Amino acid sequence: MTDPGAVSDRSNRLLRALMRLPVDMPPVWLMRQAGRYLPEYRALRAAAGSFLAMCQTPELACEVTLQPVRRFPLDAAILLSDILTVPDAMGLGLTFVEGEGPRFERPIRDRHDVARLHVPDPFAELRYVPDTVRRVRRELGGLCPLIGFSGSPWTLATYMVEGQGSDDFRRVKGLLFSDPAALTSLLAILSDAVTAYLNAQIEAGAQAVMIFDTWGGTLAAHHFLRYSRDPMAAVVEGLNRRRDGVPVPVVVFTKGGGAWLPALAETGCDALGIDWMTALASAREATGGRVALQGNLDPMALYAPPERLKAEVEAVLADFGGGAGHVFNLGHGVRPDVDPEQVGLCIDTVHAVSRRPLP
Ligand code: CP3
Repeated sequence: MTDPGAVSDRSNRLLRALMRLPVDMPPVWLMRQAGRYLPEYRALRAAAGSFLAMCQTPELACEVTLQPVRRFPLDAAILLSDILTVPDAMGLGLTFVEGEGPRFERPIRDRHDVARLHVPDPFAELRYVPDTVRRVRRELGGLCPLIGFSGSPWTLATYMVEGQGSDDFRRVKGLLFSDPAALTSLLAILSDAVTAYLNAQIEAGAQAVMIFDTWGGTLAAHHFLRYSRDPMAAVVEGLNRRRDGVPVPVVVFTKGGGAWLPALAETGCDALGIDWMTALASAREATGGRVALQGNLDPMALYAPPERLKAEVEAVLADFGGGAGHVFNLGHGVRPDVDPEQVGLCIDTVHAVSRRPLP
């Protein structure tokens, strides 16, 4: 009998694992695998002039998307873009201030601002995104799948209302307390915008999509379902889950969402991203094999001495405990000052451990 695992390779490991089918070894990709820690990224960004210019030029965005999959034996490429391109297309005026992160010139402060918002047409205002997706698919030629992504409605709302990153989310939570109906309509518009945006990526050729709910974990327990989970469930419900007869798996990642994994699985997604604060074994138990799990090495382990990094990677694999439905990843993104050698060692260790004969 042919071992079904023996047929998996770089071209299909990720999609098989996300669908909880057997694979020869867990697929590996890393959040922020394209970024400033790579000298080739820094060179291209300097030539492009800015990060946004790079995202908005399909030729450059494609090149940056491919950089990490050329350098490392990764099992997926992820589109070089940003979650904040959607609010930018809604007219908020995005800039990235050097050393300070994203800023919006025209943030959303009240119900009047919300009333003026429109759902952007992903093939018009965001056309550079499907254009990049098509180009990347062509250039990849089936080497590995391409992951598309969006921010979650709640996470996009935090940036839109705060106007920038925040430590305490006082403005967006202020809106939640003072005018919950306004926040609810903002989230409804964002659910429609995110659904259309992800469907456009799928139509253009994205083979899996991920929803980044980076700030869902900052909500009070009794607010999480209504303001973060439910809008994501509306998005998942509206997605085209097959393209040309092939399933397009959906990953939902709420950072700090460890307490809500069963509720997140109920969105109807295929997989959950798990941060490093939650053990994979307990995540697996909490979700009872209903979804695949993606994660969850502490991104700081990439600064550890090599032997220690290897041990931490092995601990993640052992924590999941083998079997179908694991995608190896970090619990959050690669930091800009990580040594690329350490990223290579991390990936090689996943492969080496998985190739080891069973005791
Ligand atoms: O993972 C990948 O390689 C794909 C590309 C990707 C980027 N941003 C590229 C990027 C993805 C999936 C994102 C998502 C994103 N962007 C999130 C959600 C995931 C997360 O990290 O929590 C958030 C919150 C953002 C918003 C954002 N974009 C911030 C806060 C910053 C500034 C912080 C920083 O690292 O400078 C960005 C900029 C950004 N997005 C860069 C990259 C490669 C760095 C731009 C540069 O200075 O070159």
